Amino acid sequence: MNIAVLCSGNGSNLQAIIDAVESGYIKSRIALVVSDNKNAFALERAKKAGIETLILNPKDFKSREDFDKEIVRELKKKDVGLVVLAGFMRLMSSYFVKEYKDRIMNIHPALLPSFKGTHGIKDALEYGVRVTGPTVHFVDDKLDHGAIILQRTVEVKDDDTEETLLERVHAEEHKIYPEAVKLFVEGRLKVEGRRVKISNQ
Ligand code: GRF
Repeated sequence: MNIAVLCSGNGSNLQAIIDAVESGYIKSRIALVVSDNKNAFALERAKKAGIETLILNPKDFKSREDFDKEIVRELKKKDVGLVVLAGFMRLMSSYFVKEYKDRIMNIHPALLPSFKGTHGIKDALEYGVRVTGPTVHFVDDKLDHGAIILQRTVEVKDDDTEETLLERVHAEEHKIYPEAVKLFVEGRLKVEGRRVKISNQ
């Protein structure tokens, strides 16, 4: 199965998935890395790994749907079976979600449904929770809302700052995202309403 990874920034999760493909943990191929930001470091990571990249500037498109249609066209050309959002800072249109129903994943740096949105780590820290951690979920047309695939907990320490907590949350992200992709590629995820069942083999 071919995978596409969509990124806007650093791409440390992309790197974790590249490493997992290269080590054979994920038996698949990353056919394309797409970015809406020409300066994303993720693009450097992709090039270094010999993966094709595509940069699209949202300003060149009339609407969100037109932008998404262009991505979907490119994904279909590459026969992509799984779309992985890794720090992709855009909401997907319902067109995109319909085209790839139950085949788009996202990672969020808090335990959903808590602390949705772009500041999941800061918001959890400021709220004063004792545990937080990343969530991998399927994407539907509401923000940070689709069925949950994997979550991992991280304890919040009294002296944590946003930076120290982010470091530990990211370390867990880099474990569960490759794990979720592997489960999908092996056909072991089954979506039943809001619940995702994971089979052993
Ligand atoms: C991660 O914290 C992820 O949870 C959130 O965006 C960040 C992406 O980081 N969706 P990176 O670009 O993978 O380093």
